[in-house]
Amino acid sequence: MVAYFVTGTDTGVGKTRVSTALLRALHQAGHARVVGMKPVAAGCDWVTHEDAEHGSAHGEWLNEDVAALRAASTLAVPSVFDNPYALPDPLSPHLAARRAGEVIDLDHIEASFHALRQHADAVVVEGAGGFVVPLNEPDPHTGEGSWATSADLAVRLQLPIVLVVGMRLGCLNHALLTQEAIAARGLKLAGWVANHIDVAMQAQDANVDTLRQRLMAPLLGRFAWAPQATSAELAASLVMPA
Ligand SMILES: Nc1ncnc2c1ncn2[C@@H]1O[C@H](COP(=O)(O)OP(=O)(O)O)[C@@H](O)[C@H]1O
Ligand SMILES: [Mg+2]
Repeated sequence: MVAYFVTGTDTGVGKTRVSTALLRALHQAGHARVVGMKPVAAGCDWVTHEDAEHGSAHGEWLNEDVAALRAASTLAVPSVFDNPYALPDPLSPHLAARRAGEVIDLDHIEASFHALRQHADAVVVEGAGGFVVPLNEPDPHTGEGSWATSADLAVRLQLPIVLVVGMRLGCLNHALLTQEAIAARGLKLAGWVANHIDVAMQAQDANVDTLRQRLMAPLLGRFAWAPQATSAELAASLVMPA
Protein backbone atom coordinates (compact mmCIF):
# COMPACT_ATOMS: atom_id res chain seq x y z
CA MET A 1 0.00 0.00 0.00
CA VAL A 2 1.42 3.39 -0.99
CA ALA A 3 -0.06 6.80 -0.33
CA TYR A 4 0.90 10.41 -0.97
CA PHE A 5 -0.31 13.80 0.13
CA VAL A 6 -0.36 16.26 -2.77
CA THR A 7 0.09 19.88 -1.84
CA GLY A 8 0.80 22.98 -3.90
CA THR A 9 2.42 26.38 -3.82
CA ASP A 10 -1.06 27.88 -3.94
CA THR A 11 -4.59 27.13 -4.98
CA GLY A 12 -5.17 26.70 -8.72
CA VAL A 13 -1.60 25.54 -9.43
CA GLY A 14 -2.32 22.03 -10.68
CA LYS A 15 -2.76 19.81 -7.61
CA THR A 16 -5.77 18.06 -9.13
CA ARG A 17 -3.99 17.70 -12.47
CA VAL A 18 -0.97 16.10 -10.78
CA SER A 19 -3.11 13.95 -8.43
CA THR A 20 -5.06 12.43 -11.33
CA ALA A 21 -1.86 11.83 -13.32
CA LEU A 22 -0.30 10.20 -10.24
CA LEU A 23 -3.32 7.92 -9.82
CA ARG A 24 -2.98 6.78 -13.46
CA ALA A 25 0.78 6.32 -13.09
CA LEU A 26 0.35 4.27 -9.91
CA HIS A 27 -2.19 2.08 -11.67
CA GLN A 28 0.14 1.57 -14.62
CA ALA A 29 2.93 0.71 -12.17
CA GLY A 30 0.87 -2.26 -10.99
CA HIS A 31 -1.27 -0.95 -8.15
CA ALA A 32 -4.63 -2.44 -9.03
CA ARG A 33 -6.89 -0.51 -6.66
CA VAL A 34 -6.00 3.17 -6.78
CA VAL A 35 -8.18 5.80 -5.21
CA GLY A 36 -8.07 9.56 -4.83
CA MET A 37 -9.17 11.34 -1.66
CA LYS A 38 -10.10 15.00 -1.27
CA PRO A 39 -10.63 15.32 2.49
CA VAL A 40 -11.97 18.86 2.26
CA ALA A 41 -13.51 20.30 -0.89
CA ALA A 42 -14.78 23.87 -0.83
CA GLY A 43 -16.87 24.92 -3.80
CA CYS A 44 -19.47 22.39 -4.84
CA ASP A 45 -22.48 22.05 -7.13
CA TRP A 46 -25.70 20.38 -6.07
CA VAL A 47 -26.00 17.27 -8.23
CA THR A 48 -29.11 15.09 -8.38
CA HIS A 49 -29.11 11.43 -9.36
CA GLU A 50 -32.22 9.79 -10.79
CA ASP A 51 -32.89 6.35 -9.40
CA ALA A 52 -34.98 4.83 -12.23
CA GLU A 53 -35.52 1.56 -10.38
CA HIS A 54 -37.14 3.21 -7.37
CA GLY A 55 -38.55 6.19 -9.25
CA SER A 56 -36.78 8.58 -6.90
CA ALA A 57 -33.99 11.14 -7.05
CA HIS A 58 -31.39 12.08 -4.47
CA GLY A 59 -28.79 14.79 -4.45
CA GLU A 60 -25.38 15.59 -3.01
CA TRP A 61 -22.80 18.36 -3.05
CA LEU A 62 -20.21 17.45 -5.67
CA ASN A 63 -16.89 19.20 -6.16
CA GLU A 64 -15.01 19.25 -9.50
CA ASP A 65 -11.80 17.93 -7.95
CA VAL A 66 -13.64 15.01 -6.38
CA ALA A 67 -15.21 14.17 -9.74
CA ALA A 68 -11.79 14.34 -11.47
CA LEU A 69 -10.14 12.14 -8.82
CA ARG A 70 -12.96 9.59 -9.11
CA ALA A 71 -12.55 9.48 -12.88
CA ALA A 72 -8.85 8.59 -12.40
CA SER A 73 -9.51 6.03 -9.63
CA THR A 74 -10.13 2.33 -10.11
CA LEU A 75 -11.82 1.91 -6.73
CA ALA A 76 -15.21 3.53 -6.17
CA VAL A 77 -16.06 4.36 -2.57
CA PRO A 78 -18.83 6.29 -0.80
CA SER A 79 -18.26 10.04 -0.33
CA VAL A 80 -17.71 9.65 3.40
CA PHE A 81 -14.39 7.99 2.54
CA ASP A 82 -13.09 9.95 -0.45
CA ASN A 83 -14.60 13.33 0.38
CA PRO A 84 -15.69 13.57 4.01
CA TYR A 85 -16.20 17.34 3.76
CA ALA A 86 -18.00 18.75 0.70
CA LEU A 87 -18.60 22.41 1.45
CA PRO A 88 -20.73 24.46 -0.96
CA ASP A 89 -18.91 27.81 -0.88
CA PRO A 90 -15.60 28.35 -2.77
CA LEU A 91 -13.78 29.80 0.25
CA SER A 92 -10.90 28.86 2.50
CA PRO A 93 -12.03 25.60 4.16
CA HIS A 94 -12.43 27.09 7.65
CA LEU A 95 -14.70 29.85 6.30
CA ALA A 96 -16.62 27.51 3.99
CA ALA A 97 -17.15 25.17 6.96
CA ARG A 98 -18.33 28.01 9.16
CA ARG A 99 -20.86 29.07 6.50
CA ALA A 100 -22.08 25.49 6.19
CA GLY A 101 -22.42 25.19 9.97
CA GLU A 102 -19.81 22.43 10.05
CA VAL A 103 -16.58 21.92 11.95
CA ILE A 104 -13.80 20.10 10.12
CA ASP A 105 -12.72 17.28 12.39
CA LEU A 106 -9.28 15.79 11.72
CA ASP A 107 -10.23 12.61 13.62
CA HIS A 108 -13.04 12.03 11.16
CA ILE A 109 -10.75 12.56 8.15
CA GLU A 110 -8.11 10.29 9.63
CA ALA A 111 -10.68 7.54 10.19
CA SER A 112 -11.90 7.86 6.60
CA PHE A 113 -8.33 7.68 5.29
CA HIS A 114 -7.53 4.56 7.32
CA ALA A 115 -10.69 2.86 6.11
CA LEU A 116 -9.75 3.76 2.54
CA ARG A 117 -6.21 2.48 2.77
CA GLN A 118 -7.45 -0.92 3.94
CA HIS A 119 -9.29 -1.37 0.65
CA ALA A 120 -6.80 0.24 -1.72
CA ASP A 121 -3.30 -0.47 -3.05
CA ALA A 122 -2.58 3.23 -3.55
CA VAL A 123 -4.19 6.38 -2.19
CA VAL A 124 -3.53 9.92 -3.41
CA VAL A 125 -4.77 12.59 -1.01
CA GLU A 126 -5.22 16.04 -2.51
CA GLY A 127 -4.93 18.82 0.04
CA ALA A 128 -7.02 21.97 -0.10
CA GLY A 129 -5.30 25.19 -1.18
CA GLY A 130 -1.66 25.56 -0.11
CA PHE A 131 0.12 23.63 2.64
CA VAL A 132 -0.84 25.74 5.65
CA VAL A 133 -4.37 26.71 4.69
CA PRO A 134 -6.65 26.92 7.76
CA LEU A 135 -9.15 24.09 8.20
CA ASN A 136 -10.68 25.07 11.49
CA GLU A 137 -10.87 27.78 14.12
CA PRO A 138 -12.09 27.86 17.71
CA ASP A 139 -15.68 29.03 18.04
CA PRO A 140 -15.50 32.49 19.65
CA HIS A 141 -18.44 31.64 21.93
CA THR A 142 -17.90 28.02 22.92
CA GLY A 143 -14.15 27.65 22.27
CA GLU A 144 -14.95 24.44 20.40
CA GLY A 145 -12.63 23.69 17.49
CA SER A 146 -8.91 24.29 16.99
CA TRP A 147 -6.44 26.23 14.85
CA ALA A 148 -5.92 23.19 12.63
CA THR A 149 -4.45 23.67 9.16
CA SER A 150 -3.95 21.42 6.18
CA ALA A 151 -0.40 20.83 7.44
CA ASP A 152 -1.82 19.33 10.66
CA LEU A 153 -3.82 16.95 8.52
CA ALA A 154 -0.67 15.92 6.62
CA VAL A 155 1.02 15.27 10.00
CA ARG A 156 -1.94 13.16 11.15
CA LEU A 157 -1.81 11.06 8.01
CA GLN A 158 2.04 10.82 8.11
CA LEU A 159 2.28 10.70 4.35
CA PRO A 160 5.14 11.60 2.05
CA ILE A 161 4.38 14.88 0.31
CA VAL A 162 4.32 15.68 -3.38
CA LEU A 163 4.64 19.41 -3.98
CA VAL A 164 3.11 20.92 -7.10
CA VAL A 165 4.85 24.14 -8.07
CA GLY A 166 2.69 26.34 -10.25
CA MET A 167 5.42 27.94 -12.36
CA ARG A 168 4.85 31.67 -12.28
CA LEU A 169 6.59 34.71 -10.87
CA GLY A 170 6.69 34.33 -7.09
CA CYS A 171 6.71 30.53 -7.12
CA LEU A 172 10.32 30.20 -5.91
CA ASN A 173 9.48 31.85 -2.61
CA HIS A 174 6.26 29.83 -2.24
CA ALA A 175 8.03 26.58 -3.06
CA LEU A 176 10.90 27.20 -0.65
CA LEU A 177 8.56 28.30 2.16
CA THR A 178 6.52 25.15 1.61
CA GLN A 179 9.66 23.02 1.75
CA GLU A 180 10.51 24.62 5.11
CA ALA A 181 6.99 24.08 6.44
CA ILE A 182 7.11 20.41 5.46
CA ALA A 183 10.55 19.88 7.03
CA ALA A 184 9.53 21.75 10.21
CA ARG A 185 6.82 19.13 10.74
CA GLY A 186 9.16 16.21 10.24
CA LEU A 187 7.44 15.14 7.04
CA LYS A 188 9.15 13.87 3.93
CA LEU A 189 9.08 15.80 0.67
CA ALA A 190 8.93 12.85 -1.73
CA GLY A 191 9.21 14.93 -4.87
CA TRP A 192 7.89 17.92 -6.75
CA VAL A 193 6.30 18.67 -10.08
CA ALA A 194 6.93 21.79 -12.16
CA ASN A 195 3.57 22.71 -13.66
CA HIS A 196 3.76 25.38 -16.33
CA ILE A 197 0.56 27.30 -15.75
CA ASP A 198 1.75 30.64 -17.15
CA VAL A 199 2.75 30.65 -20.81
CA ALA A 200 4.03 34.21 -20.48
CA MET A 201 6.41 33.44 -17.61
CA GLN A 202 9.98 34.57 -18.34
CA ALA A 203 13.01 32.28 -17.85
CA GLN A 204 10.99 29.14 -17.18
CA ASP A 205 13.96 26.77 -17.50
CA ALA A 206 16.13 28.89 -15.20
CA ASN A 207 13.35 28.87 -12.59
CA VAL A 208 13.06 25.10 -12.79
CA ASP A 209 16.85 24.83 -12.46
CA THR A 210 16.76 27.06 -9.38
CA LEU A 211 14.22 24.77 -7.75
CA ARG A 212 16.16 21.65 -8.75
CA GLN A 213 19.10 23.07 -6.83
CA ARG A 214 17.15 24.26 -3.81
CA LEU A 215 14.41 21.69 -3.30
CA MET A 216 15.80 18.63 -1.55
CA ALA A 217 13.66 16.13 -3.40
CA PRO A 218 13.52 14.79 -6.96
CA LEU A 219 11.73 16.54 -9.79
CA LEU A 220 9.05 14.01 -10.72
CA GLY A 221 7.93 15.72 -13.88
CA ARG A 222 7.53 18.91 -15.87
CA PHE A 223 4.05 19.51 -17.19
CA ALA A 224 3.91 21.88 -20.14
CA TRP A 225 1.15 24.43 -20.58
CA ALA A 226 -1.52 22.19 -22.16
CA PRO A 227 -5.13 23.01 -21.33
CA GLN A 228 -6.46 19.82 -22.96
CA ALA A 229 -3.89 17.31 -21.66
CA THR A 230 -5.45 14.14 -20.23
CA SER A 231 -4.33 12.51 -17.01
CA ALA A 232 -3.30 9.40 -18.98
CA GLU A 233 -0.97 11.49 -21.17
CA LEU A 234 0.45 13.33 -18.17
CA ALA A 235 1.02 10.08 -16.27
CA ALA A 236 3.52 9.02 -18.93
CA SER A 237 5.79 11.97 -18.08
CA LEU A 238 5.71 11.39 -14.32
CA VAL A 239 8.47 9.60 -12.44
CA MET A 240 7.11 7.63 -9.50
CA PRO A 241 8.02 9.19 -6.13
CA ALA A 242 10.05 7.00 -3.77
N1 LIG B 1 -0.10 22.74 -17.25
C1 LIG B 1 -1.30 23.30 -17.42
N2 LIG B 1 -1.65 23.80 -18.63
C2 LIG B 1 -2.86 24.35 -18.79
N3 LIG B 1 -3.80 24.44 -17.84
C3 LIG B 1 -3.52 23.95 -16.64
C4 LIG B 1 -2.25 23.35 -16.36
N4 LIG B 1 -2.26 22.93 -15.07
C5 LIG B 1 -3.47 23.26 -14.58
N5 LIG B 1 -4.23 23.86 -15.51
C6 LIG B 1 -5.60 24.35 -15.32
O1 LIG B 1 -5.58 25.26 -14.23
C7 LIG B 1 -6.71 25.06 -13.39
C8 LIG B 1 -6.25 24.71 -11.99
O2 LIG B 1 -5.63 23.42 -12.01
P1 LIG B 1 -5.96 22.38 -10.86
O3 LIG B 1 -5.25 21.11 -11.15
O4 LIG B 1 -7.44 22.29 -10.67
O5 LIG B 1 -5.29 23.15 -9.62
P2 LIG B 1 -5.50 22.97 -8.03
O6 LIG B 1 -5.99 21.57 -7.83
O7 LIG B 1 -4.16 23.23 -7.45
O8 LIG B 1 -6.51 24.00 -7.61
C9 LIG B 1 -7.54 23.96 -14.06
O9 LIG B 1 -8.53 24.55 -14.86
C10 LIG B 1 -6.52 23.22 -14.90
O10 LIG B 1 -7.11 22.58 -16.01
MG1 LIG C 1 -7.68 20.89 -6.91
